[in-house]
Amino acid sequence: MKFRRKIYVVGGDLTTFIGKHHPDFIWKKHPDFGKKENPTLEELLTQAINGAFEKTGVDPEAIERGFIGNFAGELFSNQGHMGALAVRANEKLHGKPFTRLEGACASGGLAVAAGIDALNAGHDVVMAAGSEVQTTCSAREGAGYLARASHWETERDIDDFTFPAMFARRAKHYKEKYGVTDEDIAHVTVKAYKNANKNPYAHMRSIEMDLESAANAGDRNPQFLRNEELKPHLKVSDCSQVSDGAAAIILATEEGLEKLGIDKSDTIEVLAYAQATSPLGDVDDYTVLNNTMQAAQQVYEEAGLKPSDINVAEVHDCFAVTELLMYEALGFADPGKGAELAREGETGIEGSIPVNTGGGLLAFGHPVGATGVKQVLEIYRQMKGQCGDYQIPETPKYGLTANMGGDDRTTVAMAFENVE
Ligand code: ACO
Repeated sequence: MKFRRKIYVVGGDLTTFIGKHHPDFIWKKHPDFGKKENPTLEELLTQAINGAFEKTGVDPEAIERGFIGNFAGELFSNQGHMGALAVRANEKLHGKPFTRLEGACASGGLAVAAGIDALNAGHDVVMAAGSEVQTTCSAREGAGYLARASHWETERDIDDFTFPAMFARRAKHYKEKYGVTDEDIAHVTVKAYKNANKNPYAHMRSIEMDLESAANAGDRNPQFLRNEELKPHLKVSDCSQVSDGAAAIILATEEGLEKLGIDKSDTIEVLAYAQATSPLGDVDDYTVLNNTMQAAQQVYEEAGLKPSDINVAEVHDCFAVTELLMYEALGFADPGKGAELAREGETGIEGSIPVNTGGGLLAFGHPVGATGVKQVLEIYRQMKGQCGDYQIPETPKYGLTANMGGDDRTTVAMAFENVE
């Protein structure tokens, strides 16, 4: 889609992503168990929305439309109707048009995309937010809820853990085709945890992961699938986290920035975005993310960029192998060469193309509806030097996000340029 207007990210905020293994997350081994509750979906969304106003100095009154990414509020929290839930966050939002977007794990990306569409259509200042709570049930029950993002009739029964099994299948095919080993894939996991250890917002910020633990299955890192064929290809450490969290950003046109009194140098520009959607249950090659590749190619073309121009990227690493497939779909590595890129440290914070600098879905965490919004905020925060201990050394000029729903069925990719 050709943009009709210049569009900027003004900034935003996010909550800490929490869940099992986060020191603040309350579960049966926590000293506050039975005394305190974990934050609700509404509390998290409220915190991110009002945080975005505080961090940017934007008056909520200025928001013309809002878009909320959420996948399964009804199942995890008995809560739908997210637009109306979101405006409860601030009295000044009451009466404003807020709408929910749902595209599985790409719901957040769709919320940002809808915000861009609204600006292209004539609005000047909009909000995109996303949130998810997933810790209200066991991981196994939650996996059944997440399986609603697969083709239920034909894919649900691959395993109780449907999505982990679908990506174990991709790992199996990828390893067999290219001779990639579990240790090759484990480099992605080690990078993710190393980055998260420097990130105060990260779910796994206090968990250390070395190559030996990430590469080998064992009692503390079980291959937990029941599907015998796929079980050897996935360990707990290969999986993104079951996290609770929220993120919110504000987007504006040039006229919008003027109205808000915000200097362009405090923003980043959205150069292009593309969404691709493929039929559920219809993957023709498990070793390629074809849908993501289509979205990325369109974004590069419309932004006038090539993969080697990108200085920082946020990619959808729902499982460790997915990050390698992402490198290849986004053109950072040739087919089968993603593992080399990770092994050589090129995608580390100090590498030539830093990817998932805050820990990615594997260790920053994956509150499904928030993820796509958080990705955009992370590119903004890296470009504006706000990432503290995980700040990349050189200020990035171009950034890319790729947010994926289901087994590469919905992808939203975006390209950004820092405004200096
Ligand atoms: N030995 C053998 N089996 C074990 C062991 C062990 N030591 N520990 C656990 N297990 C098995 C058990 O069967 C257990 O299930 P059960 O208790 O119901 O029988 C299962 O592994 C899971 O263990 P939990 O302790 O419940 O798992 P945890 O809460 O630590 O979660 C997990 C780990 C399952 C990997 C979780 O983080 C997860 O599901 N992550 C993926 C989330 C996901 O799929 N998100 C969507 C991504 S798709 C996308 O983004 C496009």
